Amino acid sequence: MKISIKLGLWFSLCILLIEIVSMTFLHRNLVHSRVHQEYDSLLEKGNSQRDILEINSDPHTLSHISLMGSHSDTQVVVTNTKGEIILTSIEINSNIKDILNIPISNSNLSRNGKIIQDDWKNEQYIATVTAFKKDGKNFGYVYMFKNTFDVQKLISQLNKHIFIASLLILFTILIFIFFLSKALTKPLITMKEATKKLSKGDFSVTLPKPSNDELGELSHSIQTLANDLNYLKQERNEFLASISHELRTPLTYINGYADIARRNNLDETDRVQYLDIIKEESQRVSSLVKELFDLAKLDQNRFSINKEKVNFSKFAQSIYDRVLPAFTNKGIKLILNCPENLFVEIDPIRFEQVLINLIDNSLKYSKESSTTSIRAVEENGKVQISIIDQGIGIPQNDLPRIFDRLYRVDKSRSRATGGFGLGLAIVRQLIEAHGGEITVKSLIGEGTSFTITLPR
Ligand SMILES: Nc1ncnc2c1ncn2[C@@H]1O[C@H](COP(=O)(O)OP(=O)(O)O)[C@@H](O)[C@H]1O
Ligand SMILES: [Mg+2]
Repeated sequence: MKISIKLGLWFSLCILLIEIVSMTFLHRNLVHSRVHQEYDSLLEKGNSQRDILEINSDPHTLSHISLMGSHSDTQVVVTNTKGEIILTSIEINSNIKDILNIPISNSNLSRNGKIIQDDWKNEQYIATVTAFKKDGKNFGYVYMFKNTFDVQKLISQLNKHIFIASLLILFTILIFIFFLSKALTKPLITMKEATKKLSKGDFSVTLPKPSNDELGELSHSIQTLANDLNYLKQERNEFLASISHELRTPLTYINGYADIARRNNLDETDRVQYLDIIKEESQRVSSLVKELFDLAKLDQNRFSINKEKVNFSKFAQSIYDRVLPAFTNKGIKLILNCPENLFVEIDPIRFEQVLINLIDNSLKYSKESSTTSIRAVEENGKVQISIIDQGIGIPQNDLPRIFDRLYRVDKSRSRATGGFGLGLAIVRQLIEAHGGEITVKSLIGEGTSFTITLPR
């Protein structure tokens, strides 16, 4: 069943229950107070007749009383203590007789009289009785009658009104519920549709601007998820395109030079030269594949980081010694600046990979007679390691993307220097696996500095 229908049904059921209960309550109270008004006024009338009779009961007064009764909607019958009728304003029918025959015990009859017939639903009359005295003795009874026809009519009208009112309320509320449940479930339905689209691989969903409630939060989360998935999909596509591009170039060389090297009329030195190119290019392919494989392992967290306490100044010194010749060769000054006895928790093999990558970059992207420095400091319980060069720098636009896989600022130059744009991606993954972070600052033509921050 549709959620809007379910919601609507539940609402309707609740409203129906509430309405039935409240209308029944209202009806009962109205009827009760109306009927009691009738009883009270009848009693009051009986009492005033009693007062008159007690003052004066001559035939003249009696005929007055009966005349008054016959002209009003209440009727009066006066009997003596033996039950003989002294006066009546109506014809005595069997219904009246039945009431007159109800025995009255004086002990529970107060001065204000009592109701002796209160069944307004089934009887023709409701009736009250009041005793009246003469010379201090009980002299007789005043019976007051009122036809129940009027009350019955009134109450049946009341029933009709209440019924119509209930129907009207119910109808209005049903319409209201119909629109309310539609409005409530609409965002849910759009979200359902959106997730359906997502599950089919279509990430181009746009949900309406979320409201400020739980539904809004849900819609916002779905939108974020869709955007992320879309981004990942695009990134994956770009990544695959870049990889195939990267592979195509060396493979084209290999293919082409292999064809040439197979020719019979080739002299040996040329053949060796072509085979060398083939070897170089296949090494390039295999190092690309190795780096990709490393990244894949990093991605799946299958890269175990075995941290140990390392004396960083010694560690950095050994790397420094190893890379120094390359820098000297290119005419670049390399400086190491690290306090002694700086200990860090790192995986030495992985961290060496990180540093070599960064140092290698500064070597590749620096010009002759510039300076590169490796610095380590401890600050606020954190260790900061910076590689600062005076190289070509990185344009501001490219800075946010240089850690992306296969991203290189200048494709042609990088190819000449032999990189795939995977180095920084690997570096960042490794540093994050160490629980640290890496930031970069760069000015074009001035130089670049990478800073690694490690928790102690
Ligand atoms: N020290 C640096 N100076 C200038 N540019 C740099 C530096 N380090 C990295 N880059 C830029 O960032 C890109 C990505 O670096 P990296 O992932 O190591 O790839 P590559 O294989 O090209 O070295 C490089 O192609 C280069 O454009
Ligand atoms: Mg590199």
